[in-house]
This record gives sequence, structure tokens and C-alpha cells, in this order.
Amino acid sequence: MVRERESFGSRFAVIMAFAGSAIGLGNIWRFPYLVGQNGGAAFIFVYIISSFLLSLPIFISESVIGRRTHSNTFGAMEILAPGSKWKWLGLLTVISPLIILSFYSVVGGWSIEYFVKSCTLGFGTVPISHVEGIFGGFITSTWGPLLCHTVFLLLCAGIILGGVKGGIEKFSNITMPILFVLIVLIIAYSVSLPGAQRGVEYMVKPDFSKVTPSVIAAAMGQSFFSLSLGVGTILTYSSYVKKDEDMLLSGAGTAVLDLIFAMLAGFAVMPAVFAADLEPASGPGLIFQTLPFIFTKMGETMPVLSNLVAILFFLTVLVAALTSAISMFEVGVAYLVEEKKFTRVSATLTIFFCTWILGALCSLSFGPLNGVRIFGNTIFEFCDKLTSNFLMTFGGLLFTVFVGWKMRKADVRDELTNSRTIRFNDRCFGVLYFLIKYLAPVAIIVIFATNLFA
Ligand code: PHE
Repeated sequence: MVRERESFGSRFAVIMAFAGSAIGLGNIWRFPYLVGQNGGAAFIFVYIISSFLLSLPIFISESVIGRRTHSNTFGAMEILAPGSKWKWLGLLTVISPLIILSFYSVVGGWSIEYFVKSCTLGFGTVPISHVEGIFGGFITSTWGPLLCHTVFLLLCAGIILGGVKGGIEKFSNITMPILFVLIVLIIAYSVSLPGAQRGVEYMVKPDFSKVTPSVIAAAMGQSFFSLSLGVGTILTYSSYVKKDEDMLLSGAGTAVLDLIFAMLAGFAVMPAVFAADLEPASGPGLIFQTLPFIFTKMGETMPVLSNLVAILFFLTVLVAALTSAISMFEVGVAYLVEEKKFTRVSATLTIFFCTWILGALCSLSFGPLNGVRIFGNTIFEFCDKLTSNFLMTFGGLLFTVFVGWKMRKADVRDELTNSRTIRFNDRCFGVLYFLIKYLAPVAIIVIFATNLFA
């Protein structure tokens, strides 16, 4: 029996959905603070190289598996390697995006709080002495962050219930172009601040003496996270792509858009940080602590404008987080619907409850559950490190090994060149196959080892 399966309606929809998954908190929240912690432009340079040489081949490996099988991660492995141990990779990649979604939703929830705060209280108008304590006070409290986490997950569930076409495709098609417009408006504000120039230089003038093995590992890890690799989201979205679509083009298009957006986010954040004479290496609190401080400081002279930018900024963060979160949500839903015969509604509710519970624990780990430690980490930190440092890398490694060593080369070629009808891809195939088969696995093992021993 041929299963009725939804698919994305157009090339634009495919790229917007992929870009929606890729562009998220990783670009706006993580990228700027990692740039700050790892020495600016030199980090960006390594990041760009690894996005194309390493991450793109992994992206393509996942796409090849997804589009070839038109199946969820578990089903895909059963189709291509029936009865083998590869099914565990299928299962692992059902679970790992749900762990990411749990803590991601907590940070997504913070962006709801900050969006509402900027609409009501107005960062442009509060006294500066109020701003500093807001973030710490909020995330360590019990009910507020839990409520925001719940609202964030409910929004995701609502979009997922709409289906692939009516939910994911529609939402990404509308919001992704808007995100680009919003971030450009924010940059215009940020670079016009007095003293912003040094922030721009920080982003573009590399100091290569700052490149150490741990900077390289951080840049590679970030490019993985940012392109949503190794956890089955790209595989699942690719399974909704029609046979006549060009997978190399969609992958490369997504990598380019993701990179552009990360750079734009950097140019939105860094010039403002320098203009306010703040520390670029302040870490994960950069956009939630440092930026509101800047909005307030600038608000002393231009309250209305600063406040408006604050609203736009946190709206951007929220929407970007939502388009990524739904891609993780969909992995579990596709699995439950196709393998366990759930209806879409019951699958959505099941994923909602599982991630709500783990997410609630992550949220409480900043406050009441702060004393609970796993290998010295809070629950939130543990979930973040487990997935970003290990599960994503491990999944990425296995996907490239699967495509490079287990699948038949002719099948991989067929999938990437649409049975040798796309000339350009056919010509590039040798290089791509080399990257997938040799370079990516070796590089991933190196990052893995660095993360393990760093
Ligand atoms: N790429 C997303 C971001 O940059 C995060 C993500 C990771 C999404 C893994 C899906 C899977 O925010």
C-alpha cells in the first residue's frame, strides 16, 4: 500500500522550511555570544569554512536519506537497511530533537516574556537600575518561566496540528521573509549608535592568533547546531520534498541563508554592545541581559525608538525560535504517526506532554531545582551539553557514514542529481561524495574528541 504523504508545495516553500529550522536561537542567541567569547572575526572565519566543508555534506547526507525514503527517521533506516542495527540511529534521532526542544522551549519562553515586557513596561523607558536584576530574577523564579515555556510549546503544537502544508509551510513562508526585514531594521538602529564602529570592526577584522583548537571545535559545533544537523530534523523535512526538487540547491541555499542571518544577528548585537561599552564575552545572557540594558541606556535619549526596537528584536527572537522548534516537534510526530499509527492530534499531544515535562525540569533548574546536578551540571546545562556536544555530533557522524559507506554510491548519486538530470550536481558529485565519505566523518571525530577532553 502506498502511504498518502504530504509534501511541500514549491521550491520556495522547501527553502523557507529548511531555513526556518536552521535560523533560530542558534543564530540570534548563541552565535553572537560565541563570537564574543571566541575572539570575534577569526571565529566567524572558521565558522564559515566549516559550514560549507563540513556541515553542508552532513545536511546533504540527511537530505538524501529523507528524500529517498519519504519516511520518518526510524522508518527511513528500516527501508534502507532493513533489520539492521541502523534502526537505533533512527530511534536516537527521534529522541535527541525532543531533548533539544525541551530546553529550547524554555529559552523560547524567555523571549515571550521579554517580548511582552518590552510591549508593556518598555525597556526604553524604565530606570537603568531596574534592568540588571530583571533577567536573573525572572529565570530563577518558578511560575513565570513555566508559563512562558507552556505558551511557547502550545504555539508549536498549534502550528504542527495544521499539518506539513497548512501548518509548517504556511508559517515558514510568511514569517521567514519578515524575519529578514526585521533584523535589517534592527541593524540600522544598532550601527547608528555612537561608538558602534568598534563592534562592526570586531565582526570583520580577524585576529588569527586567537584561533585555538577549542575555538575551532566551538565554531564547528555552532555550525552544526545552527544548521539543525545530526538529529533527524533535516531528514524529516527532506522526506516531505518532492522527487523533482534539487536537494543540493536547497541545502546550499539554506546554508547561505543561515550564514547571512547569523551575520546579520551579529551586526545587530555587537555594535550595540560596543556602543554601550559592555563586555562582548558576557555569555548566554548577552541578548537577554546586555541588550535590554542597551535599550534602556539609549532610551534615556530616544525612548520611543529604543522601545520600538526592543519590541521588534524580541519578536524576531520569538518567531525565529518557533520556526526551529516546529522542525524538532515534527520529527517525533512523523515517527508516532507513521510507525505507531497515532493520529496527528494524539501524536502532537504526546510530544507536547513529553517535552513539556522535561522542559519544565530544565526551567526549574535555574531556580528551585538548581541543586540537582548531573555530572556537575544543572538539568538545563546537561540537556544542552548532551545534545549540542554529543548527540548532534554523533548523529551527524552516523548519517555521513551511512550515506558514504552503507548506501550504494549509485543511489546517492541518483538522489543528488535526480537520476543524473541535474548536470551541475552531476559534475560536483565526486567532490561532494569525498566530503561525505571521508572529510566529514574525520572532522566530526576530531570535534567529538575535543569536546570530550576539553
Ligand atoms: N538550528 C536551530 C537554531 O539555530 C536549532 C535546531 C537544532 C533546530 C536542532 C532543529 C534541530 O536555533
